[in-house]
Amino acid sequence: MGMALSHTHPGAQEGQPVTVLGLESSCDDSAAAIVRLHGDGRAEVLAERVINQNSDHAPFGGVVPEIAARSHAERMDHLAREVMEEARLEFGALDAIAATAGPGLIGGVMAALMTAKGLAIGAGKPLIAVNHLEGHALSPRLVEPLPFPWLLLLVSGGHTQLVSVEGVGQMTRLGSTIDDAAGEAFDKSAKVLGLGFPGGPALEKLAAEATDPSRFPLPRMLAHDKSCNFSFAGLKTAVKRSYDAVEAPTDANRADLAAAAQAAIAAHLAERTGRALDLYAAHNPQARVLVAAGGVAANTAVRKALIREAETRGFRTLFPPLKYCTDNAAMIALAGAERFRLGISDDLDVPARARWPLDSGAASDDPLLGSGKKGPKA
Ligand code: KG4
Ligand code: ZN
Repeated sequence: MGMALSHTHPGAQEGQPVTVLGLESSCDDSAAAIVRLHGDGRAEVLAERVINQNSDHAPFGGVVPEIAARSHAERMDHLAREVMEEARLEFGALDAIAATAGPGLIGGVMAALMTAKGLAIGAGKPLIAVNHLEGHALSPRLVEPLPFPWLLLLVSGGHTQLVSVEGVGQMTRLGSTIDDAAGEAFDKSAKVLGLGFPGGPALEKLAAEATDPSRFPLPRMLAHDKSCNFSFAGLKTAVKRSYDAVEAPTDANRADLAAAAQAAIAAHLAERTGRALDLYAAHNPQARVLVAAGGVAANTAVRKALIREAETRGFRTLFPPLKYCTDNAAMIALAGAERFRLGISDDLDVPARARWPLDSGAASDDPLLGSGKKGPKA
């Protein structure tokens, strides 16, 4: 992936720890973290900071790219210095400086990448341009030295994809959304029900009050499609139509519809993941681990549905702690450290990229794979 601009250096001495500062600003979180990757594969987060922009965007019901870019640019430099102070490190003590270089909202991506370039030049350290999706893909290693390979389901407000993670820079995408992300399906359904942004957690809370979710039959997405792709655009329309059809909506109606929407999303995610597990298992009979990451993986109904699919196939399911499965900089620092250890770094003119698919085989130009209001789903 994107190796044209990467070059190699001696990397780390065998068994020596690698310490990397990572910066992230590709969507609506500005984040910085320092990770030390030990010789035995154990990752240690020395310091981390995330500033969420939810309150900046809440009045608009979604992420506004211009607002995001401006506030990232104002914060990145401070965040980098804060984590260095917290870890009591001088820049000279770092092995490399990593930043997300895409995919994402381009104005935002540039904020972290430019800051990282400046710091790399100032400190005379290698720069590592990290694919944000690779950061998510490797994030379980922040928690345990999980050996490759594993199957990743990444479900958030910006991504919905199934990826076979075979190694650093070695990933195969098995499926992806053709329209909205799973988190958008939650957020848009929540909006129909009059809940605030981000809607996922609010919808889950309301759904817990439901007494009869079957009162609202919702369509099965991509019912006749045999791929591992996802589609959520039709669901929002169906939720809206169901809601409009209720003459005088009560709290009980709203709770039932919330539960129906949640169940439909969970069922679709589980069904597609089941398909991908079968594909993955055919190639990897030994490594039976499903990793579910992203904000939507916090949803209890989604978790239960995924665990069921995994268990029937003899897979273990791993949910990284929420702070490492939503957007964060520790995963970017870790991906940087893993790359540095393999002797990979990037030129200082490496560009910020709005689109950057994980594997060259994945159809970056596939017209079926759309991009939503939060930017490319890559
Ligand atoms: O990973 P994340 O924080 O990053 C972005 O994509 O920005 O994911 C946020 C998404 C939002 O769409 C939010 O509504 C959804 O994850 N989400 C949830 C839950 N918690 C967060 N969706 C359903 N149930 C939840 N408990
Ligand atoms: Zn992300």
